[in-house]
Amino acid sequence: MKKFVIANWKMNPNTVKVAKVLFDEVVKGLKDVKKAKVVICPPFVYLPALQDLKSNIRLGAQDCFWEDKGSFTGEISLPMLKSFGCKYVIIGHSERRQFLNETDRMINKKIKAALIKNLRPIFCLGESKKDKDRGKTQTVLKRQLENGLKKISKSDIKKIIFAYEPLWAIGSGKPCSLDEANVIRLFIKKVVTQKYFRSITNEIKILYGGSVNSSNVKNFIQEAGFQGVLVGGVSLKPKEFIKLVKNI
Ligand code: PGA
Repeated sequence: MKKFVIANWKMNPNTVKVAKVLFDEVVKGLKDVKKAKVVICPPFVYLPALQDLKSNIRLGAQDCFWEDKGSFTGEISLPMLKSFGCKYVIIGHSERRQFLNETDRMINKKIKAALIKNLRPIFCLGESKKDKDRGKTQTVLKRQLENGLKKISKSDIKKIIFAYEPLWAIGSGKPCSLDEANVIRLFIKKVVTQKYFRSITNEIKILYGGSVNSSNVKNFIQEAGFQGVLVGGVSLKPKEFIKLVKNI
C-alpha cells in the first residue's frame, strides 16, 4: 500500500511566483516515484496557479469552512476547494487550535462537511508539552478523537486520515521518539476501533507529523508503523523534500 506524504506549506511562500517554482521543482523531482502518494497543501490563494501546472501530485487545502456558501466573511467553502481540484483537506491543525481558537466542535463540523463533499479529511491531533508533562497525553487525544468524530458513520471513518502531531515536536527539530509514537499510534487505533468496531482495524490510516525529515521518515513508517507522514518545514525545501519522499 502506498504511503502518504502530506506537505503542509502553512503560510508560505510569499509570492505565487515562488510557489510555482517550488511546486514545479517537486513535481519534476518526483516524476518517477511510485511508492508514495504525495499531497501538497499550499495556501488557498495558490491553488488555482498550481492546479494549472498539471501533475501527478495531489492538491489539498490547509482548512475549510463547514457551510457551502453565504455570509461568512473570509471563509473558504468545500465546493470552492473542489472546484480547484482539491481532494484532501487538513482539519484541526494545532496552529489553528492554538492561534485561532478552533474547537473540537468546529473541527467535527468541518470533518463531517468534508466527508459529505467527498474530500478526504486529514484530521490532526496532538498534545502540548504541558499536557505531556502532566501525563495527560492519552486523555487529551481521547477527547480530541471522541469530540472530533461525533456522529460520523462507520463507513465514513475509513475515509479519514488521522495525523498524530505532538505540538512540542512541530518545528522543533526534535521529533517524537519511535517507541512513544508507536504507543500513541496504537492508542489512536484502539480508541477509534472501540468506537467503530474491530472490523475496520486494518483500514485506519494514521500518519505522524512533527520534525519529519529525510533521515527519520523511514523509521516512522517502517519501525513505528505509520501509514505516512505530515511534513511542514521540510516541504518548503524542494531538494530535501524530494529526498524525504524517495527515502520512504
Ligand atoms: P514540521 O511541521 O514538519 O515543520 O515540524 C509539521 C506540521 O505542523 O504539520
